[in-house]
Amino acid sequence: MKKITDNITSCGILNPNLRVFDIVMRTDFGTSYNSYVVKGSERTAIIDAAHGRFGGLYLEELREALGGAQPDYLVVNHTEPDHSGAIGCLLDVWPDMKIVTNAVAAKNLRQIVNRGGLPIQTVKDGETLSLGDRTLRFIIAPMLHWPDTMMTWLEEEGTLFSCDVFGCHYCEPGALDTHIAWPADYETAFRDYFAGIFGPFAPHVQRGLQKLAGLGLQRVCPSHGPVLTPGCRLEYAMESYRVWSLPQVNSQFSIPVFYCSAYGNTRRLGHALREGVLEARPRALCELHDLVDCDMAAMGALLNASDAFLLGTPTLNRGAVPPLWDLLSRADAVNMPGRPCALFGSYGWSGEALGQLAGRLAQLKCKLFEEQMKVCLVPSEEDLARARDFGRRFAESL
Ligand code: FEO
Repeated sequence: MKKITDNITSCGILNPNLRVFDIVMRTDFGTSYNSYVVKGSERTAIIDAAHGRFGGLYLEELREALGGAQPDYLVVNHTEPDHSGAIGCLLDVWPDMKIVTNAVAAKNLRQIVNRGGLPIQTVKDGETLSLGDRTLRFIIAPMLHWPDTMMTWLEEEGTLFSCDVFGCHYCEPGALDTHIAWPADYETAFRDYFAGIFGPFAPHVQRGLQKLAGLGLQRVCPSHGPVLTPGCRLEYAMESYRVWSLPQVNSQFSIPVFYCSAYGNTRRLGHALREGVLEARPRALCELHDLVDCDMAAMGALLNASDAFLLGTPTLNRGAVPPLWDLLSRADAVNMPGRPCALFGSYGWSGEALGQLAGRLAQLKCKLFEEQMKVCLVPSEEDLARARDFGRRFAESL
């Protein structure tokens, strides 16, 4: 438990050992599940809960922060289970506590807590809730990063409880940004968190920032990572979000070629395709990336920032090889529709891999080139000439 102001206490959970969040996101610096207690002269609110795995420990922290007070409200800014998982534990102790949230989150919550008669009070954008001498105002912020997201503004203290926004998977004992011991690691975590969580929703970030303009923020209390304060990390966080959420236009047309190759055959096709691409678009950035020995997170970022892309795989065990699936699992499904792409690969027996990848690309609504560059075993000089022609025609189609 850490005091933020006389009326705000942080009482979340530190999880320094977490190394993977939500299956796909690396968390080299652990994380925290932040929760806050806000005391008014008449009523007390908890802002966001914590991960269900830490329910018992979280209750201890919460009780200490409450200092004997009964919580009147639990404000749920977002229902992802890292913040909603412990709600059942809270209701076991305080069954009469009102859950204050928006209509979308309320629907989710009924499916998460799975008990009848939840004491939910739904709120709309701009609506307020009085705690006596403290007032909470709710800012609905859909798609930051779920449809249910809202933020909570504590008017009298200039404090924004920003949900995942401005958060990061970073864990240190101090609650405030003024005590960050490893600033470079914090900035890495902050940047990666934005890229992984908010990157696909950049237009919504812009809209969210507009809603915050003019509030006069004195501090931001996110649901992961340190509390942000003026003169320390608050301005950095706001400006980073502004810049990172601007529409991205590549200065050089980007057509990465991602591939795996067991015996060099698919690789040779990739090189020939690249030559063809550069014949048609000499100024394009068209580089080959072997997915076996690479930073897959960086490859995912490259894929998502591309203007078009090529995927090459051999067929192993009647399918595409795992690194290709890993790469596609990182595709930003929100912004991938219409992205031009093409498939190539060498095969030995039956060559099902490209058809499988085509199915996934169709699910992502990519614009798949109508032909596939498929060669049985070792590409001949004729095959390589065909691949160059394929690459040229693909680039000309863009
Ligand atoms: Fe930290 Fe979207 O949950």
